[in-house]
Amino acid sequence: MAIVEELQALQRDALSAIAGAGASDELERVRVRVLGKSGSLTAYLRSMKDVPKEQRAEVGKTLNQVRNVVEGALADKKRVLEDAELTAEIDAGAVDVTLPGRAQQVGTRHLISRITDEISDIFLGLGYNVVAGNEIETDYYNFEALNTPADHPARGMQDTFYVVDRSGDKAAVRGESDVLLRTQTSGVQAHVMEAQKPPIYIIAPGKVYRRDVADPSHLPQFNQVEGLVVDEGITFGDLKGTLEYFVKQMFGEDRKTRLRPHYFPFTEPSCEADISCGICGGEGCRFCKGTGWVEVLGAGLVDPNVFAYAGIDPERYSGFAFGMGVERIACLKYNIPDLRMLLEGDMRFLRQF
Ligand code: PHE
Repeated sequence: MAIVEELQALQRDALSAIAGAGASDELERVRVRVLGKSGSLTAYLRSMKDVPKEQRAEVGKTLNQVRNVVEGALADKKRVLEDAELTAEIDAGAVDVTLPGRAQQVGTRHLISRITDEISDIFLGLGYNVVAGNEIETDYYNFEALNTPADHPARGMQDTFYVVDRSGDKAAVRGESDVLLRTQTSGVQAHVMEAQKPPIYIIAPGKVYRRDVADPSHLPQFNQVEGLVVDEGITFGDLKGTLEYFVKQMFGEDRKTRLRPHYFPFTEPSCEADISCGICGGEGCRFCKGTGWVEVLGAGLVDPNVFAYAGIDPERYSGFAFGMGVERIACLKYNIPDLRMLLEGDMRFLRQF
């Protein structure tokens, strides 16, 4: 067979192999077989020098034509196969653009943070400073310096979380004092009076801890805002006026306040403040247990013994202190029946505030 016919046969074979290739890797194998280093057409190109002179022009022309035809067919087929493969890949990972999107929920500050700020703002407006305290506290500041005798029930293991070292012993840091999670923000009073000279007008918001099981009215961790005023000539009337002002700012002008005698180790006299029930307006309902009043905070005049611990002269200075539960204020303001709702992170609940 003349070379030209051999080349035409080679072209036919190559074109049918190209047409039959079903995937790009298969097509690549055809290309290598024909046009690769040791491909069939390459062999002809290499042996041009052996072709007799008089045939060279014709053979050369045919060779070029065959090569162009095969290369063109390869390129066309390659595009077709790659398109098909891309389409298949897109279909396989298909995104259903008609599906509804997933809405991103926008967060807001938690109700407890907002109420804490609201309380702080009311007292900032009266010229108080905000101070931070320690959540991990010593027995001394949480109890002793607050005139809480060693046998006071509040010091019992049932109320206080003690911080223990690995051996299970209570960790002692200050003499015989124990380390604990503060049960009240009142310890900040002792720190401030130790560090600052009167006049003192401060509030101290923060978390406190008690060994309580969570139920509608108890949480093992909750938030308090402590208040302390020490100055010359401070009377119970100042305390009363301050609390009444606070209640009206927080709950509205129509809320009444009453003070009931109570006991706290670090204040004398001590009281609890009640406000008229927001649900029945003071008529008496289930929420206020028929009394028309709900308790909001504890307060009193600073006990002279507490001044003595801090080295403040009780003859010259007097003061008052108060402490309120932030969760309780939130519940009273928004009529929330169960403290635990504040902790559950349920957006349907939290979004209302
Ligand atoms: N620390 C008291 C409590 O947790 C509240 C309080 C604070 C009472 C300041 C009087 C003065 O119950």
